[in-house]
Amino acid sequence: MRTQVAIIGAGPAGLLLSHLLAQGGVESVVLETRSEEYVAARIRAGILEHSSVELLEAAGLGARLRAEGDEHRGIYLQWPGERHHLDFVNLTGRSVWVYGQTEVQKDLIAARRAAGQEIHYEVSDVGLHDIEGSPYVTYTDKNGQSARIDALAVAGCDGSFGVSRKAVPAAKTFERVYPYSWFGILADVAPSTDELIYAWHPDGFALHSMRSATVSRLYLQVPNGTDPQTWSDDQIWDALATRLGHGQNGWKLNPGPITDKSVLPMRSYVQTPMRHGNLFLAGDAAHIVPPTGAKGLNLAIADVALLSKALVARIAEKDDRPADAYSETAQRRVWRCTHFSWWMTTMLHTSGDPFDAELQLSQLRWVASSEAGATGLAENYAGLPIFI
Ligand code: FAD
Ligand code: DHB
Repeated sequence: MRTQVAIIGAGPAGLLLSHLLAQGGVESVVLETRSEEYVAARIRAGILEHSSVELLEAAGLGARLRAEGDEHRGIYLQWPGERHHLDFVNLTGRSVWVYGQTEVQKDLIAARRAAGQEIHYEVSDVGLHDIEGSPYVTYTDKNGQSARIDALAVAGCDGSFGVSRKAVPAAKTFERVYPYSWFGILADVAPSTDELIYAWHPDGFALHSMRSATVSRLYLQVPNGTDPQTWSDDQIWDALATRLGHGQNGWKLNPGPITDKSVLPMRSYVQTPMRHGNLFLAGDAAHIVPPTGAKGLNLAIADVALLSKALVARIAEKDDRPADAYSETAQRRVWRCTHFSWWMTTMLHTSGDPFDAELQLSQLRWVASSEAGATGLAENYAGLPIFI
């Protein structure tokens, strides 16, 4: 089989890339190890930054997002006894949207299906070959048949456990592992807040997020290696109530039936360069951020916005300049988001060290009370423009 771009991975990065390439007149084939149902059901990110919404809308993927998503003006930052609202729209003119990654994924699958896009699910043994010359990808299809795709370029959108990042020789990597994880729950209960609450607490960080008017998403900082099954539902709600300030100024956390529990380890990882020969990396294949600040999905979208332009220029217009600049241009945003996610994480998660705790509280008070501090957080959270 022959195509212009072989895309490895049908997560948000891979599917959005195939969509944007098609709009630029470039054809692609997508390979995915998991089943379509598995990919569509994975519970992950929940917040889209301003530029991501603009980009999805411009790509014709905004209808359901606008109808079913929820626009938020900002977030609450809190610590014991205090809760402060940061209004991103007042501070920066930019908002964020609550719209789950599962919904983005469903919209992408529907759009690619409507366009007749070839997506091969449940493949195995994916191998990348001759990426410095005439690239091709080999794999075993879901019926056990060996197959090969010849392409002009390969896009590695296969996440942090994929094969693509390993195919870049002599890559430089940067990594930070954090000494805590997030225990995430999904609950069938109306959110107890209109906008997200990021809470510092001596027992550990907590976050109140949501997916819809009837579904809440909440997170607790827990030690690495925590088994979610060792926490009863009552223990989870009690810890959330304490850390989120149930009873503070009359605020109440409403508990409800928990439908999903998972523990997510946290790390920062950056691999550079994001291109080798005809292989281009995008999304989690090139970088991972800890979830605090909701950058992972947004960064994948921003990479793909750049990469699609670069590949369309290279393939359809014979202009190599954007592809030659891709890695360096993308990395500027990658490092901004890596710093922001690290900063949010280290400001809000307790380490047990009293000196750290005082520094964190001082930083939180400054961010919440200074327009300069609040604007810095807002600008990064609501997201910088993709093309600057
Ligand atoms: P992925 O979504 O990982 O997609 C990669 C795809 O490639 C997958 O479908 C995978 O099955 C496939 N693949 C892997 N190997 C191969 C192969 N060899 N061949 C073919 N296909 C392959 N971000 C936030 O902002 N907020 C959150 O709350 C949040 N929660 C998260 C929870 C979890 C458990 C995880 C893992 C991530 C979370 N993230 C969150 C991060 C966010 O979901 C990712 O940044 C985003 O999914 C990146 O998209 P992607 O397409 O680059 O990678
Ligand atoms: C969600 C995840 C985040 O990492 C975050 O900072 C905000 C919200 C969420 O899953 O809803």
